[in-house]
Amino acid sequence: MQKVWWKESVVYQIYPRSFCDSNGDGIGDLKGITGKLDYVQKLGVNVIWLSPVYKSPNDDNGYDIADYQAIMDEFGTMEDFDELLMEAHQRGIRIVMDLVVNHTSDEHAWFVESRSSRDNDKRDYYIWREARDGKEPNNWGSCFSGSAWQWDEKTQMYYLHCFSQKQPDLNWDNPVVRDKVFEMMTWWCEKGIDGFRMDVISMISKPEGLPDAPMAEGALYGGCDLTCNGPHVHEYLQEMNRRVLSKYDIMTVGETAGVTIEEARKYANSEGTELNMVFQFEHVGLDGGDADKWAKKKMSLPALKENLTKWQKELAGVAWNSIFFCNHDQPRVVSRLGDNSPESAKCIGTMLHMMQGTPYVYQGEELGMTNCLFGPIENYRDIESINAYHELTEAGLREPQELLSCIAYKSRDNARTPMQWNGSANAGFTTGTPWIMVNPNYKEINAEKELADENSVFYYYQKLIRLRRQSEWSDVIVYGDYELLLPQDEAVFAYTRSLEGRKLLVLCNLSDADAEFELPAEAAGPVKAVLITNEGEAPVLKERMKLKKWQCVVYEI
Ligand code: GLC
Ligand code: CA
Repeated sequence: MQKVWWKESVVYQIYPRSFCDSNGDGIGDLKGITGKLDYVQKLGVNVIWLSPVYKSPNDDNGYDIADYQAIMDEFGTMEDFDELLMEAHQRGIRIVMDLVVNHTSDEHAWFVESRSSRDNDKRDYYIWREARDGKEPNNWGSCFSGSAWQWDEKTQMYYLHCFSQKQPDLNWDNPVVRDKVFEMMTWWCEKGIDGFRMDVISMISKPEGLPDAPMAEGALYGGCDLTCNGPHVHEYLQEMNRRVLSKYDIMTVGETAGVTIEEARKYANSEGTELNMVFQFEHVGLDGGDADKWAKKKMSLPALKENLTKWQKELAGVAWNSIFFCNHDQPRVVSRLGDNSPESAKCIGTMLHMMQGTPYVYQGEELGMTNCLFGPIENYRDIESINAYHELTEAGLREPQELLSCIAYKSRDNARTPMQWNGSANAGFTTGTPWIMVNPNYKEINAEKELADENSVFYYYQKLIRLRRQSEWSDVIVYGDYELLLPQDEAVFAYTRSLEGRKLLVLCNLSDADAEFELPAEAAGPVKAVLITNEGEAPVLKERMKLKKWQCVVYEI
């Protein structure tokens, strides 16, 4: 396997709006991030993925971009960005930008022109269609509720928006659009940024003729499946690779909704003709999938093991995995798989960080930050949650209280509460009024407290990251082969990693009860070293093993 820096990296995702507010307006900003770089460096990561910081009317918190080459007013200026980039580089931290090019904001100059008349020369930058029998051109639903089509009075046609009405989809079949996007990307690369996380990049190529999509039972609109992995997506990414990516030493990760193993092997192929890696979403769909996001099934551990193992084994040697559970769209993993305790946070972190692939840590995950009890829908800020609540209750499809409990479990806002820096007002995030509520548990869970406690989740994550990046086991952790043990066990996630005669054994009791299990003889020792454990002394390794609830340990055997 070819060795490269982005395989050996650990990425820290920052959602700027919720990270640190430097000027008291209640909104996190670039200067706030720069002021916390020492903290990020202390954690030990070497890459930051910055959620969008571009000019935006914030219908979807910056994922609706009005100018790709300007900074959002609330976040600061281009000088602030340059300073952040320089300060990060001085600390050996690279910066990966969010690239949102499936759509723009409706306030982007391209769209303003495009909608101005049917014969405007930018008309074809977007996807315009005539009405069909006086209605929408097809049955597609927006990911944020309602139809994916918006009627435009002025020119009497519909435009496509797979997300909000303020996020019209770009027409990637138009070569001029591709030129413009590639020019913009080149501009950022020339500035010295270190890569791109590509927002819903699997959706850029729409199917020929925009046919109706299959409807799930009880659904109001057709699903998004047809828009994922479309007919020209690989061709367009190969073109992007040739014209931009291959010219720079950068890392790329595609957010690929609907990706399968087969597709991932193309997107993230080891020949390097498209992207370096992709985010897949099957494992985070196991407690209620895309079609039924507002559910809270219990995630079965055997199913989780089977899924993650499939991705580990089937990309090995031919593509590269991203490993994650948290980001700005996902509820907090410690509330999802764990029981909100620091022990469960450490156990889940171990299970993920010992796998093959590039790990992503989302801000606050390293503190064990939890889901937030927002209460009534008025306390939410996320367009997806708010729209779904209104659409599904007004159509009589869901009971308000029951739906609210699912939103409490799954809402993206769980990840977007302000970073908990200390126990002072607003968790030290802002001196003003925060744009979204602070999780009331900030007095128990915060960075200042954890930095003063050597047994904290923070120092545990620091150790996990150091093991991968700077230890005698780094090569085995980054490049070793993965084998699952005990596939059917309901409580324990156990696997080995092996490389050139060295072997690690990872044991994680992902349950809130003590677990007993039997290891295959060849995995039961002898122990050469204990890499990490979350409960004082490491347990003695033997065939008949016992682990306390949420206990985990990694041995070299
Ligand atoms: C991606 C982003 C999400 C955003 C959506 C539309 O899924 O991660 O936050 O709302 O794309 O841009
Ligand atoms: Ca601010």
